Amino acid sequence: MEENIEKLNLMTSEEAMRYLMDKYGDRIALSSSLSLEDQVITHMMLSIRKNARIFTLDTGRLFPETYSLIDKTNMKYGIKMEIYFPDHEKVEAMTRKHGVNLFYESMEKRKECCNVRKIEPLNRALSTLDVWVCGLRREQSITRGDMKMVEKDPYSNVIKFNPLIDWSLKDVTDYIKANNIPYNPLHDKGYPSIGCQPCTRPVAEGEDIRSGRWWWEDPDKKECGLHKR
Ligand code: ADX
Ligand code: SF4
Repeated sequence: MEENIEKLNLMTSEEAMRYLMDKYGDRIALSSSLSLEDQVITHMMLSIRKNARIFTLDTGRLFPETYSLIDKTNMKYGIKMEIYFPDHEKVEAMTRKHGVNLFYESMEKRKECCNVRKIEPLNRALSTLDVWVCGLRREQSITRGDMKMVEKDPYSNVIKFNPLIDWSLKDVTDYIKANNIPYNPLHDKGYPSIGCQPCTRPVAEGEDIRSGRWWWEDPDKKECGLHKR
């Protein structure tokens, strides 16, 4: 796959989305965590093509509200999001050795859990793709400031496309409201960023939006490994 990444980065995100969806068909998919950003992109991609591919990494530890939102989104758009689930033998081996809540014990164990429950399933998903669409925004975190709308994923053979890279949170919430897009009710209860239930907590007004994720770890380092693998 040869693609002129620089040229793509000169397009608007909508132009790039249409171009890539047209060119790559079933080899382009959104990885959705059901975040506000991912719900916006879900809406955009399904408006372009009714059978656009959307997958989620079901770690087995998501919030009940997130599972409900998967269902609600499927019903609204008449789709079935692709669910990628961790390898049961790896989960069994890990939890027999370290228990079910190993992530609080050390960063190594937290990364092991993320590897088993997210990265391995992600790699299976990526093996079916040329283009991986994500909901990353530059202002989300200091670790994301240097990301581009379109870039080569350094860890795989795919192109990574972040259509909302320049959007502000207000742009995202305005789009959700204007288009009546379903979203996770936890966002209205103090959870700006939602991942696995045991690794996410609400944040106080004015606090950093990602401070409720792996709150016991150093903010400079806490990426789950999906994007810095
Ligand atoms: S994380 O790296 O800290 O977990 P974050 O929650 O900010 O990521 O989400 C950033 C993007 O990563 C999402 O927009 C989505 O594209 C992808 N992503 C994160 N978690 C999942 C998941 N469980 N399933 C699918 N994609 C995900
Ligand atoms: Fe495990 Fe927490 Fe990573 Fe989810 S976010 S995979 S529960 S360590």
